[in-house]
Order: sequence, then C-alpha cells, then structure tokens
Amino acid sequence: KRLVLIGPPGCGKGTQSPVIKDEYCLCHLATGDMLRASVAAKTPLGVKAKEAMDKGELVSDEIVVGIIDEALKKPSCQKGFILDGFPRTVAQAQKLDEMLETRGVKVDKVLNFAINDSILEERITGRWIHPASGRTYHTKYAPPKVPGIDDVTGEPLIQRKDDTPSVLKSRLEAFHRQTEPVIDYYSKKSIVANLPAEKRPEEVTKEVKKVLS
Ligand code: AP5
Ligand code: ZN
Repeated sequence: KRLVLIGPPGCGKGTQSPVIKDEYCLCHLATGDMLRASVAAKTPLGVKAKEAMDKGELVSDEIVVGIIDEALKKPSCQKGFILDGFPRTVAQAQKLDEMLETRGVKVDKVLNFAINDSILEERITGRWIHPASGRTYHTKYAPPKVPGIDDVTGEPLIQRKDDTPSVLKSRLEAFHRQTEPVIDYYSKKSIVANLPAEKRPEEVTKEVKKVLS
C-alpha cells in the first residue's frame, strides 16, 4: 500500500503511523521528523529549514520534494510507504505523482484526519517526545510511566520547539491555506478516506484498519 496521511498539527498522524507501519510492513516517511534530524545535525539543509520551522511556516517545496525523492529510493520503501506530513501543498502533490509515475506506481489511499481546530492546542502543548525513536507521549492522553522519561529506554523526553500556542497558530494557518487544497486534489481522484480524529487513539486505529482492510 502507498498511503498519504493528511491533517493539522496534533491530529494524530505520528501516533497512528507506527501502528499502520507494523500492521502492513510499510516504511514510514515523516518529512517533519527528517527535517528535525537535519536541524539537529546542523546540515546546510537543516540550517535553511530551521527558520521556517521555528516560525510555523512551510519549508520550501524544493527542499521537501528532494528529501522524499531520495527516501523513496530506499529498498525498504519499494513495497509500500506511509507519507506523514507530505505532500502539504498542491505543488508537492503534483511532484509526488510525477515521481511515482516514473516508478510505475501511484498513491492508493489518502487518510484525512478530520478534527476541529479547538482541540489541537491541548494536544500540542501536552506532547512529549523521545527524539531518538520518535515515540510520542501526552501528559494527559498517553502519559509515560515516569513523567519526562521514555518508557523503553529510560532516556529523557523533550518538547518540540514549535509546540507553543503562538507557533501553533501559524502552523494551523499554513494548514488551512496551503494543505487543505491538497485534500481537494486527492478527492478528485476519489482516494480520500475521512477519519474521526477526535476520538480516542484506539478508536482512530480501528477506523484506520477498517479503511485499509
Ligand atoms: P510536522 O512534524 O509534520 O508537524 P505537524 O504537521 O504540525 O504535525 P505534528 O507532528 O505536530 O502532529 P501529528 O499529527 O503527528 O500529532 P501526534 O500524533 O504527534 O512538521 C513540522 C514542520 O516541518 C512544519 O511546520 C514545517 O515547517 C516543516 N514541514 C514538514 N513537512 C513539510 C512539508 N511537506 N512541506 C513543507 N514544510 C514541511 O499527536 C499530537 C499529540 O496528541 C501527542 O502528544 C499524542 O500523544 C496526542 N494524541 C494523538 N492522537 C490522540 C487522540 N486520538 N486522542 C488524544 N490524544 C492524542
Ligand atoms: Zn507528527
């Protein structure tokens, strides 16, 4: 399967991805995670991306398309993939179609995480992550056994720099202005499935499995 996950910040893309990945043995490509790794490593690409990310704006299409084009060449991505946070503009969606066409494949399904904006601030400000693994916790909805500590490794958890109410506002604006048109783009191809992303994580997982079965 070749899947695209679309939804606003905090809708649950990163939370559902590992479940889908394990169930269907797909590779998980999250442009946000890849960009944060480049920022942490202070690569030239990371230095360029950081400014936009800190402000909650989108990084240029050119940068993210380049990242995805490279990642899709990995042997582990040949059987199928989950794109989490890409494409986020119609131009990125068109580029993706072109890239896949040259490989003789296409996007099978787009999971649209439908959720009201008002819920997202609490999700975002309560999020803690284990940077090395990408494991995600929430102080209220998915607390770690020991506050601030990863359950598996015992290493400290961190909060994302862009997880503040003011940066969230810009991220949401970018979502509505630039990413919502991508849902229309895929709707015309009749491959969009809407998920009730406001429900509890296990409920959302059930819906995902229903859509993919
Ligand atoms: P990115 O990392 O993609 O961030 P985002 O889209 O804002 O999404 P998030 O990771 O914040 O949300 P999520 O849906 O993964 O939520 P999660 O599952 O963790 O992008 C960051 C930045 O990189 C962008 O702003 C941009 O600058 C740049 N960028 C990335 N891709 C780009 C692209 N293609 N083009 C240009 N720029 C790009 O859940 C959130 C919290 O809620 C967690 O604590 C979780 O435990 C909890 N939770 C999850 N589900 C539930 C539930 N059902 N009920 C209760 N709590 C829940
Ligand atoms: Zn995420």
